[in-house]
Amino acid sequence: MDMMKRIYVQSFGCQMNKLDTALVVGALKEAGFRLTDTVKDADVVLMNTCSVREHAEQRVFSHLGHLKHIKESHPDLVVGVIGCMAQRLGDELLKHEAVNLVCGPAQIPRLSVLLKEAMQGKKATTAVTEKIRQKPTDEQNQLLEDFESAYGVEDKQIPNQAFVRVMRGCNNFCTYCIVPYVRGPEVSRPPEAIMEQIKKLADHGVKQVTLLGQRVNAYQYQQGGRTWSLADLLDAASNIKGIEWLRFVTSYPSGEFFNDILQVMADSPKVCNYLHIPAQSGSDRILQAMNRRYSSREYLDLLGRAREIVPGISIAGDFIVGFSGETEEDFEATIDLVRKARYKNAFIFKYSPRPGTTADKRLQDTIPGDVKQRRNVELLAVQEKISDELSRDFLGKEVNVLVEGLSKKSHVNMDQNDNPQLIGRTSGDWIVVFNGPESLTGQFAQVKITAVSPLTLFGQLG
Ligand code: 5AD
Ligand code: SF4
Repeated sequence: MDMMKRIYVQSFGCQMNKLDTALVVGALKEAGFRLTDTVKDADVVLMNTCSVREHAEQRVFSHLGHLKHIKESHPDLVVGVIGCMAQRLGDELLKHEAVNLVCGPAQIPRLSVLLKEAMQGKKATTAVTEKIRQKPTDEQNQLLEDFESAYGVEDKQIPNQAFVRVMRGCNNFCTYCIVPYVRGPEVSRPPEAIMEQIKKLADHGVKQVTLLGQRVNAYQYQQGGRTWSLADLLDAASNIKGIEWLRFVTSYPSGEFFNDILQVMADSPKVCNYLHIPAQSGSDRILQAMNRRYSSREYLDLLGRAREIVPGISIAGDFIVGFSGETEEDFEATIDLVRKARYKNAFIFKYSPRPGTTADKRLQDTIPGDVKQRRNVELLAVQEKISDELSRDFLGKEVNVLVEGLSKKSHVNMDQNDNPQLIGRTSGDWIVVFNGPESLTGQFAQVKITAVSPLTLFGQLG
């Protein structure tokens, strides 16, 4: 009989959170747990949570509600909440009837020990960082570093791809944003730790690495009289054997450091010609209220510069509609910016006040829900038209894609040779759907584009 405890993991939120999930899973496997994909079979349910919008938190509470019912018939089930919500709510979460353990993002190295304690003695624990804005000590950083290096290879979500954190935390304090309060001060990781991790990943067959940071272009590490920038990291990583594609997210639109990064992108065939660079708004008044340190003009100039240095670069953006005090005129300025920016795609969010942020303390959530909704739909329509236009440029062309695996309808949409439908991405992050052998997963393939929709290219193996 198998005595290993089974763990069910559910992950919400951004890539940073997904990376934490991968690290935690690696550590828990080593500690003797094994994964299950059904709650029913689980001894432990772990939820890695996000606080970026209220909706993300509501989803977690609704899952916790279900778990409470499940626990009525499975009283031994242990439920742990980790991630940004754990840090934000701490003990308050522990009061929830379903929750046995609360552990913030900076405390995950302790998780397997805490979990075992919770399972043995049924001890309820909260492990969060008390003074989250206090600069972490060298010791605290080292703990996280060791954890990261030890378990940084365990990402099997998409074969031959991996994420590597280059920075933790954020010092930006955009007034709407919870991140600085849940992930703490900005800390850049040592370049040799990052490089070692990428080498290890390459040895395991990884072809694409995405470098992660909340403001990744601000990466800076002082060492031996020299300062490492993101451009230096990209340059060094592109020399690692086996690494074919490098990406980095998310960029902050400030002029500093950008030219060098764009130059590496232009010079190195391995650095994907892709930027994810949120504007958030096109209105200077709103940008100021958001504490974004650029004007819409400066932002568009930056995109212009990117297109000059890296011809054909693919750009994606984020926007928040309905921020405190956003007038129709402000919103029109956002539409105008989206028209000019010509993004590949844009992620659009309705403003959600987050407790403890400056916007929540000093400004009011003045825009009614239905207005936020209308602006969201309207902006999306403007962007969709642009995505549609840009996608048409690919018709008849051949693109190189890194194959991610089967598409959602892989076996409904078989071709005449019984090949399933696959999904891959171009260097510019366009999604490409085509038929081919499943063995192409994790490999590069040439695909000729024969049809397009605003966000997806369709084609045939070339
Ligand atoms: N409300 C709505 N959207 C938000 N984002 C961040 N904070 C909020 C908030 N309070 C969006 C931003 C960011 C993306 C990850 O989420 O657009 O770039
Ligand atoms: Fe990621 Fe921010 Fe959500 Fe945390 S709150 S999971 S950092 S998006």
